[in-house]
Amino acid sequence: MTNKYMYFIANWKMFGGLNSLNSLHKIVKFFKTFKKNKSIKIIYCPPNILIRPMSKKLKNSKIEVGAQNCHENDTYGAFTGSVNSMMLKNVGAKYVIIGHSENRQSGENDRLINLKIKSALNSGLKVIFCIGETLKEKRKKITKKVLNLQLRKGLNKIKNNRNIIIAYEPVWSIGTGLIPKSTDLSDTIDFIKSKKKKNKVLYGGSVNPKNIIQLRSIDNIDGFLVGGASQDAKKFIDIIKKSFN
Ligand code: 13P
Repeated sequence: MTNKYMYFIANWKMFGGLNSLNSLHKIVKFFKTFKKNKSIKIIYCPPNILIRPMSKKLKNSKIEVGAQNCHENDTYGAFTGSVNSMMLKNVGAKYVIIGHSENRQSGENDRLINLKIKSALNSGLKVIFCIGETLKEKRKKITKKVLNLQLRKGLNKIKNNRNIIIAYEPVWSIGTGLIPKSTDLSDTIDFIKSKKKKNKVLYGGSVNPKNIIQLRSIDNIDGFLVGGASQDAKKFIDIIKKSFN
């Protein structure tokens, strides 16, 4: 264990406008009064345009804000449409998700992901590094091989960095309502931890208020990266509450 926290990370993906920030008071209020609040960390990763206004809304709440991706260049450059980690930090991000399968599917490879992780760490951001196998790879029973390669290449020449949180997100479980069998999931998390002893390992993929009780019973998981259900403050609060029942 690297620290005592259980993580609940909201990945809003490409959802939300300024009006979506109106519901944040619910989570702020909940977190203030929640008995277990000292042992959990809540992090919201909205689209970049919302990082600044969200950080302002969450000021003094102990809820932190992160981004969903960054450019690999440390400095400014002629990269139309891109934002680097230094710029994200400047507007209030403390974390950045890197290696999400939705970005791997649109062309990001392990080498690029490695460069992005290094750049984010250089800028002082904490990294939420996503790995996971596709359905085809799962059927071929090569999940561990795939994860091992993603870990090895993605973290190439990055030693023992505690500012990296690993999120295991099987591609086939994202947005599908499917989650791995508890024994499989526990075994996979153990495998990742055997390779990366110093890092927290989270699970992501279709986490919702119904399946959280089953997921939370797997005791080697250090937290959850929640997509769809995190856009609804009530559902996200429910997930956190039920995790401690
Ligand atoms: P869902 O929770 O919508 O399946 O998304 C998971 C995810 O991709 C979080 O990064």
